Amino acid sequence: KGLFTFDPGFTSTASCESKITYIDGDEGILLHRGFPIDQLAKESNFLEVSYLLLYGEVPTQKQYDDFRKIVERHTMVHEQITRLFHGFRRDSHPMAVLCGVTGALAAFYHDSIDVENERHREIAAYRLLSKMPTVAAMCYKYSIGQPFVYPRNELSYAGNFLHMMFATPCEEYIVNPVLERAMDRILILHADHEQNASTSTVRTAGSSGANPFACIAAGIASLWGPAHGGANEAALKMLEEISSVEHIPGFIKRAKDKNDSFRLMGFGHRVYKNYDPRATVMRDTCHEVLKELDLKDNNLLEVAMELEHIALNDPYFIEKKLYPNVDFYSGIILKAMGIPSSMFTVIFAMARTVGWIAHWNEMHQDGIKIARPRQLYTGYDKRDFHSQLKK
Ligand code: CMC
Repeated sequence: KGLFTFDPGFTSTASCESKITYIDGDEGILLHRGFPIDQLAKESNFLEVSYLLLYGEVPTQKQYDDFRKIVERHTMVHEQITRLFHGFRRDSHPMAVLCGVTGALAAFYHDSIDVENERHREIAAYRLLSKMPTVAAMCYKYSIGQPFVYPRNELSYAGNFLHMMFATPCEEYIVNPVLERAMDRILILHADHEQNASTSTVRTAGSSGANPFACIAAGIASLWGPAHGGANEAALKMLEEISSVEHIPGFIKRAKDKNDSFRLMGFGHRVYKNYDPRATVMRDTCHEVLKELDLKDNNLLEVAMELEHIALNDPYFIEKKLYPNVDFYSGIILKAMGIPSSMFTVIFAMARTVGWIAHWNEMHQDGIKIARPRQLYTGYDKRDFHSQLKK
């Protein structure tokens, strides 16, 4: 009954209007507030892009300095949060911990959660943007049994994250500028991507007027899956499994086999039917990092480049328009930096937080209508109930 459009997976349904991000999947174009992603990745920095996503315009120097100061002011988390971490098993996946701790921030920062109040929304945005690297690095430190490292606000957003990941009370971490720049680029390239599964989840959760920290936790849960943000971890695992170029044809054969569930991870995209513009910048960054670390003969990079070459010339991948996506090269960079694969999706979540908040804020600004999709019911017709329990 009723007239609905049936669109499983929302392949052709626009769920909202948005001014934040534009994608032309056929042409491989990605613009944030009108600016091409490659220009932003090469000429901007993550905090400047964050300002652009949140406020819609490039900041003046004064606006940027003020924004940076506010972000710095909120980098620490409530000390009691450290105790919350100790409730998790040490071998928990860092995404499970990130999801739980981010949701729990709602219990700590509840002084400004009137979502209809613009100032309250702004404070929630600053808190999330500032605290996410701290919480992400805490997830890592907890998993390896090292003490948490406090933020250092004189460092850049990416540099501070690397410091919290790798410094210890016995040894200071000297941030390598090439790796710092690469981390900053990874953050920019993941910052937003319009109505993907996790962003739509944040909007859906927020459409009921829910707490912003809880909405971001919902986004993290959605991002975790291997078809979405979890693909970076899965792509590296796949490259390690392939391990050498002579094994590539066997894996390509499996990816094309209808009876095999194996897919080339880091390949294909719902929207891009052309090269993902983020993957191009990621590949260049990968070369820069490996050169800096003197890892030019990296076996995984060799496998990745050969796999890309073979797939791009294979009729199956050509016909289905399957190209490398943003996650194909990011794992090689992160691994070379000394970051374990279980942290890859955590870093994606840290970067995407600003996109999630920008969409959550835009939705509240524009006036919300609760998200309530319909369904096509395929169950029983009406029937009478007779209990089979003993009376
Ligand atoms: N390897 C082999 N075949 C593939 C692949 C792949 N990576 N991706 C899609 N196909 C095939 C698929 O089997 C299907 O074939 P057929 O039409 O014969 O049934 C066809 O291409 C269309 O695939 P689909 O699953 O219907 O397409 P989708 O738009 O629903 O899925 C995707 C998009 C990204 C989930 C999918 O391409 C995939 O699983 N890729 C691997 C995981 C991955 O890299 N995800 C990261 C996406 S980018 C980061 C982000 O923003 O989340």
